[in-house]
Amino acid sequence: MKDLPRVGIMDSGAGGLGVLSECLKLAGGVRYYYFADGENAPYGSKSEGEIASFVRAGLQMFVRLGADAAVLACNTATAACVEEMRQNFAFPVVGTEPAVHPAAAAGCKNVLVLVTPRTAKTARFRALLARERGCVFTVFAPPLLASAMEEFAAEGTLPTLSDHLPKGEFDGVVLGCTHYTLAKGEIARFYGAPVFDGNYGTAQRLFSLMGRDGCPPIGKFSHQKGALTTNKRSASNCDIQTKNEVIFLNSSKKRSKLYTEQMFFLRLMPKNVRISQMDENFF
Ligand code: DGL
Repeated sequence: MKDLPRVGIMDSGAGGLGVLSECLKLAGGVRYYYFADGENAPYGSKSEGEIASFVRAGLQMFVRLGADAAVLACNTATAACVEEMRQNFAFPVVGTEPAVHPAAAAGCKNVLVLVTPRTAKTARFRALLARERGCVFTVFAPPLLASAMEEFAAEGTLPTLSDHLPKGEFDGVVLGCTHYTLAKGEIARFYGAPVFDGNYGTAQRLFSLMGRDGCPPIGKFSHQKGALTTNKRSASNCDIQTKNEVIFLNSSKKRSKLYTEQMFFLRLMPKNVRISQMDENFF
């Protein structure tokens, strides 16, 4: 059996499925471990220290699974602790950021930025906004929307958006929480404005670190600056012809089945994927 490059993707729940989907579309021949940290969700109401401890446990699990890279498919986790994780883990840790730059670059001037309550308070997020000049950002953090979207992923009932979202006229909306991207089309229609998210950018960044798009493979170029040896699995061809594998971790059979169904329902899952799940408790 081919030794596929291994990527661990984690989120507090179903939000990261959108990032996973972009990764699946960009390359073949990769094994993804998807960890939905449902026990500690929602991250948006937790402190930065608590979130860092949840993420650390997730990444330690990926280490035990021999991952070549990890993706925080969660804006909140990225804002709270991505730098700390990069310093503490030997593999590259790719984060997901609110797409404020793509919104500004597209010419939007009056932009609604939807994040979680925790993200809104972080220094990293504030610095991200401050880098974009010439754009007015209205930041709003709906307290219950991520949980409502998690329920949507499990049960298929879309929450009433007007219960969660502010009224207003905007020429662009940034979905700064991966859970919100599960209702991307509906939110675009709600505001009659284009929406932006970090899902595709995150997948692109992952593959640039995995030796695609002309960048050197994992280990030669990473936050660790040479601390790693070049990873042969990642340097090998992750060609689009080879099937990807997705393994849902530490989630019940029922939940992994729900996530799979939900991905098809939301048209997030390209067909050419082998799906399984791992029940063992890695903690
Ligand atoms: N999906 C996560 C994000 O992108 C957060 C959801 C939560 O609050 O757990 O921020």
